[in-house]
Amino acid sequence: MKYSTVVFDLDGTIADTMPGILSAVKYALNKMNSPILPDEVLRGFSGPPIVDSFQSLCQMSKEESQKATLFYREYYDEIGWKNSSLYPGIRSVITALKQAGARLFVATGKKEDVAHRTLEHFFLDHFFEDLVAPEPGIKFRDKEYALDKLLGNHVQGAVMIGDTPGDIVGAKKNNVASIAVTFGAGSRQELIDSQPDEIADSPEDLYGLLGIEPIKGYFISLEGNDGSGKSTQAEMLHRSLDNLGYKVLFTREPGGTLVSEKIRQLLLDVDNRSMTCRTEALLFAAGRAQHVEEVIKPALEQGYLVVCDRYVDSSIAYQGGGRKLGIDLVRDINAPAINGLLPNTTAFLSIDPCVALTRRVEATAADRIEQSQMDFHNRVADAYQKIIQNDPDRFIIINADQDKDSVQSELLSCLLPRLRAFEVKQCK
Ligand code: TYD
Repeated sequence: MKYSTVVFDLDGTIADTMPGILSAVKYALNKMNSPILPDEVLRGFSGPPIVDSFQSLCQMSKEESQKATLFYREYYDEIGWKNSSLYPGIRSVITALKQAGARLFVATGKKEDVAHRTLEHFFLDHFFEDLVAPEPGIKFRDKEYALDKLLGNHVQGAVMIGDTPGDIVGAKKNNVASIAVTFGAGSRQELIDSQPDEIADSPEDLYGLLGIEPIKGYFISLEGNDGSGKSTQAEMLHRSLDNLGYKVLFTREPGGTLVSEKIRQLLLDVDNRSMTCRTEALLFAAGRAQHVEEVIKPALEQGYLVVCDRYVDSSIAYQGGGRKLGIDLVRDINAPAINGLLPNTTAFLSIDPCVALTRRVEATAADRIEQSQMDFHNRVADAYQKIIQNDPDRFIIINADQDKDSVQSELLSCLLPRLRAFEVKQCK
């Protein structure tokens, strides 16, 4: 690891707060009866003190800009701050730094309580030892004061990471190394002009620049009967995890690679009615072997959070239970395919198979497997129950018989504590 102390700027470096900032500025401009300037101009509000930006960007007098700042705060502190997301992948960088033993700090231009709330909102607070925000009465044009307060003379081995020239300039005044990130508010050119030691164009670039390795990945699979709403939930989950700053790889079975997608077409083709149950089981396993080796394992090695829509439990439930091949035979067939790789967490969307299938068939035309008789789907559901009983710690059971937003929030409330526990364990 190149640096033992890492100070992060918050807005534009960890969190993409631009949507909330823009809406708060527009709210203030409306209240002030001022013209609404284009977003390209209003983006300049991220970084410098808000009161200065109303003066410089909106040509307000000192008194007007103070009034506008109060309106801005009224909106941002209440509503705007929630309109933010973490940059995809930044969370994994922070976890990797912590795991490598770095001391982490935040130096922000935000109000202290809003900055704390933002870190808590994204479950990031436990990573950071301290946070410095502007104190009333102290001008906070760049990060000079914050870095001085955080580090004092202990600048050896420290680096400041930020997205605006103010972050870089503040670091230089304190003789602290600096890395400029170009995915936030600052333009690449103005960042180059501020002469940082390094430039990162994505969170991913930070691994090399900081001299750290990605943390171990985490594997989540989603399971459930046909019509349980699993694929909708998988997509929603993908978006939610992106917003929380995870580096997410989303994939599905059967499929997920060129070879496996070809196998998928064979399996789901309604013309292939003569396919025997053993052929079917072997084909699912063959597609999985390719998927595990080509996609899932490499992604986990690179620290991705892999979300897979169906995995080996589907074969055990559908071919083992539904097609009556038996759980043990299907497990054996799949042993060389998964090569020991089981998910860290499997989310099972639980719903009465009859209700689920009616929902599914009403939505789209049924494929070859969905056209099977109802008792087949009941056997699938029974097999899932056996799998869960045999390995209860791996599963979270989600009630899928509710509207999709409620299912997603139940899924997140079960999953996120597990992800946090995994992060904390990695950092010990
Ligand atoms: P798909 O269109 O992906 O359905 P879903 O959105 O419900 O996942 O079709 C996959 C079908 O294949 C589904 O009916 C479940 C079945 N299946 C198996 O029988 N065995 C398996 O190993 C897998 C992965 C899927």
